[in-house]
Amino acid sequence: MSEIAFLLNGTPVRVADVSPTRTLLDWLREDRGLCGTKEGCNEGDCGACTVMVTDAAGSKALNACILFLPQLDGKAVRTVEGIAGPEGALHPVQEAMITHHGSQCGFCTPGFVVSMAVAHLNGRTDHDDQLAGNLCRCTGYAPIVRAAESVASQPVPDWMKDDADFRLAEVSSGVRGQTAPDAFRPQDSDELADWYLANPDATLIAGATDVGLWVTKQLRDLSPVAFLNGMKDLQHIERRGDAVHVGAGVTITDLYEAMRRMHPSFAELLRRYASVQIRNAATIGGNIANGSPIGDGPPALIALGATLHLRRGDELRSLPLERFFLEYRRQDRQPGEFVAGVSFPDHAPTLRCYKLSKRFDQDISAVCGCFNLTVEDGRVTAARIAFGGMAGVPKRAALAESALVGKPWDLATAGAAAEAMAGDFTPLSDMRASAAYRLRTAQNMMMRYFHDLAGVAVDVLRVTP
Ligand SMILES: Cc1cc2nc3c(=O)[nH]c(=O)nc-3n(C[C@H](O)[C@H](O)[C@H](O)COP(=O)(O)OP(=O)(O)OC[C@H]3O[C@@H](n4cnc5c(N)ncnc54)[C@H](O)[C@@H]3O)c2cc1C
Ligand code: FES
Ligand code: FES
Repeated sequence: MSEIAFLLNGTPVRVADVSPTRTLLDWLREDRGLCGTKEGCNEGDCGACTVMVTDAAGSKALNACILFLPQLDGKAVRTVEGIAGPEGALHPVQEAMITHHGSQCGFCTPGFVVSMAVAHLNGRTDHDDQLAGNLCRCTGYAPIVRAAESVASQPVPDWMKDDADFRLAEVSSGVRGQTAPDAFRPQDSDELADWYLANPDATLIAGATDVGLWVTKQLRDLSPVAFLNGMKDLQHIERRGDAVHVGAGVTITDLYEAMRRMHPSFAELLRRYASVQIRNAATIGGNIANGSPIGDGPPALIALGATLHLRRGDELRSLPLERFFLEYRRQDRQPGEFVAGVSFPDHAPTLRCYKLSKRFDQDISAVCGCFNLTVEDGRVTAARIAFGGMAGVPKRAALAESALVGKPWDLATAGAAAEAMAGDFTPLSDMRASAAYRLRTAQNMMMRYFHDLAGVAVDVLRVTP
């Protein structure tokens, strides 16, 4: 790999001659002897490997186990060893973990401490969400959350602010373009378009929250690879008339922030998308291109009537998102073609997204149902319903939609649409849910949608008498 450079716990480092898919976690522990960052799952699930990464956009918690070294070029990394201050002064969250007995065996503690320190730096007090990506097997979460609460109003230590002031030029390798035969770091989509056309068998790596596992779990050799995280032109969210355009490189964290006002139910779905660490890395382009039948982005976007934008060389094409998914893990994407972005209406007041998973936090959907009806004068005039987890691809419920359009919007019509769903889907049984459970759940979501639009509280965290 060509040389990359970044700031590590306040000190500039340069790294060369390592595989482009060497993870930060392995490099920290094996090459630098920084063993405070732990390996629990090695797949982004437990947060034991959490590190803080800072760039011009701010400081984020990320999982080092599925973060490749080239993704860090020009950034600042702070591990648990750099959370304590000079001469060993403890960070307030470390003091609080001691005071509140937030650690027993201690294996999860470095990851928690880093997540807590990043949340503290960013002024976040939604502790349950901020810590949902950190798993503790023995202490229990109450003392840890109490520790986080207790320091919320304490000032951020000076050393935690230093990374934000770092001068990019000092730590960036300054290298761009194809700097090694096996790893390309395009700066914009023009550069990627040319290179990918010439290297159509290459693996594109955006946030690496899927691709990372191909390396850590499947031990795959991905060469050649292109790292997309330097392509600023694909990282914008823009309004274009009545539509919103989201670049493929927009992270789930940034999409969540944009959707909070525009499409709050979609935002709520994204809040339950994995964890803070994963949302900070994962992109919407990766979520779509990956083609998983259980990804959370596509059902919501299909229900919104989204258009997907693809680019191959100089050619651009657009298609309704649902047409992109051809069959299980096969998408309508040509060699050398990449996802450039997705656009969808900025107004959909009846959009509702329901995620069913075994855990509330940090879990992939068993079934994800998204509903978007237009009701005029008591009649349904348009219907878009899309599901994840019900077929080999994210899929619309065409028969259910037909059962709705033109009918009065009442309980009987909703029930008929739910019945019709049995003809729309032949779901699989797997470790997440049985086929029968999936179908019943999807039908129940239809009824839930009816009650939801009628103003009945349907919050899954509260029981309403
Ligand atoms: C612990 C954990 C929890 C997760 N939870 C959820 C969840 O709750 N909901 C959910 O939907 N997903 C979840 N995922 C899956 C994953 O986070 C998403 O699919 C994510 O959006 C992928 O985006 P990425 O940027 O990380 O993609 P990458 O891993 O970088 O890439 C994924 C695929 O897309 C391709 N690709 C990336 N960008 C482009 C592009 N612009 N054009 C063409 N191809 C491209 C890559 O080559 C690869 O095939 C989880 C993953 C983990 C590890
Ligand atoms: S080791 Fe579990 S998230 Fe990285
Ligand atoms: S203290 Fe043992 S896993 Fe958390």
